[in-house]
Amino acid sequence: MSKSTPSDAVVEVNYDELIPNNVDLANDARLKKALEKWQPKYIDWWNEAGPVDTQGFEVYLRTAVGVDPTGWAKFGHVKMPDYRWGILLAPKEEGRTIPFGKHKGQPAWQEVPGEYRALLRRLLVVQGDTEPASVEQQRYLSATAPSLYDMRNLFQVNVEEGRHLWAIVYLLVKYFGRDGREEAETLLERRSSDKDKPRILGAFNEETPDWLSFFMFTYFTDRDGKMQLQALAQSGFDPLSRTCRFMLTEEAHHMFVGENGVGRVIQRTCEAMNEAGISDTSDIESVRKLAVIDLPTLQKKINFHYAVTLDLFGAEVSTNGAAAFTAGIKGRFRETKLNDDHVLTADTYMVARVVDGEIVEEEETALSAINARLLDDYIKDASGGIDRWNKIIRKTGIKFEFTLAHKGFNRRIGEFAEHFISPDGEVLGEEQWHATRDQWLCSGIDDSYIQSLMQPCLKKGQYAGWIAEPRVGINDQPGDFEYVRID
Ligand SMILES: [Fe+2]
Ligand SMILES: [Fe+2]
Repeated sequence: MSKSTPSDAVVEVNYDELIPNNVDLANDARLKKALEKWQPKYIDWWNEAGPVDTQGFEVYLRTAVGVDPTGWAKFGHVKMPDYRWGILLAPKEEGRTIPFGKHKGQPAWQEVPGEYRALLRRLLVVQGDTEPASVEQQRYLSATAPSLYDMRNLFQVNVEEGRHLWAIVYLLVKYFGRDGREEAETLLERRSSDKDKPRILGAFNEETPDWLSFFMFTYFTDRDGKMQLQALAQSGFDPLSRTCRFMLTEEAHHMFVGENGVGRVIQRTCEAMNEAGISDTSDIESVRKLAVIDLPTLQKKINFHYAVTLDLFGAEVSTNGAAAFTAGIKGRFRETKLNDDHVLTADTYMVARVVDGEIVEEEETALSAINARLLDDYIKDASGGIDRWNKIIRKTGIKFEFTLAHKGFNRRIGEFAEHFISPDGEVLGEEQWHATRDQWLCSGIDDSYIQSLMQPCLKKGQYAGWIAEPRVGINDQPGDFEYVRID
């Protein structure tokens, strides 16, 4: 049995210090000094690469004040550079053992095992790099916010991605000595889509040029974050597990922002179509005259963000994935709830790929297909929102259904990278694929249309015409609440 007691976990968060924490930083002078040296560089990064021209805004933000799943946050207006970014770990589970891999059943590691030092460091850096990257990608969005409510949600996501960077930097600095301190610096030096020093993963160098992209990103790409954190939360390296478990509580809100945002766009489009007496969803020209986003364009945005996010799972068949699992460093989604031996040396997994111009499923060893499995788990998880969005459409009486594309569509990484697959899963020739591309992904015209709608709407309780009002406010605030005080 595992349970936590106050004696083995500092559950209270200490806010008296420069860096709020529940890791007893006050009694670790070396770590405290290193993090306090990093802190001003972090603030410089925030001011230089975070939300543009917002330093004076007072934003209604939640701040973590504990790690108890019920009531862990408090809400209040805060200037973002003064946000209390802290280091918060989920409580320690006494007697926790390594749940998978070749060390299964041994006590979880409280220090980095020497043989896995390089592997762990790399995993931390790749995960850590995504956190500031998304803040950079979203830097300019506040200038075109469709409401103060949405602007607040953007900033909430941004400050929490900043906190996730703190979470990873804590692990690097505490457990990886000088190497860790250097990595922590470098995490502040790379920049999304920078020619010389880009962020590590492709999706994090894409632009987030408009609010629809932001909502799609938080729905699809933050959900990749959730899957990666879930897999790392299983880790035999206990401080990583505890860190990721607390990050997951914050991640849920990011995906809510995305699902709710896209849902409100759908709602508004369908309402506007009904008001204008338009039932033909393919009559894009008429729908656009209403200054809302037509459903086929929403499908194209879904296609794009979905495919880019699938690439984040890496090659489906991967020796690195197998090594991280066998080492007990990175597990599977809901590892402890799975009914197998958690060692997987005798198991297989079916992986889809193109053979002789056809998509087939082939058997691979379960270990080598760890990434393929996490990808499939992600696909299941992501499909839930598609169903809920379709329900919104159905309720309005409009006839249209969103679908998730075939996992081979528009891929740059993995089994389908060199192939040309349609969203329906047809294997096409390169030319044919490109000739049809604009039916599946936004054209320049689609992008400019979306861009044309991005006009700020910053009066209390008001919303841009292309998005419906949310049904409930943040922390049950009323509809005309001033979520952001601008000067
Ligand atoms: Fe994050
Ligand atoms: Fe996130």
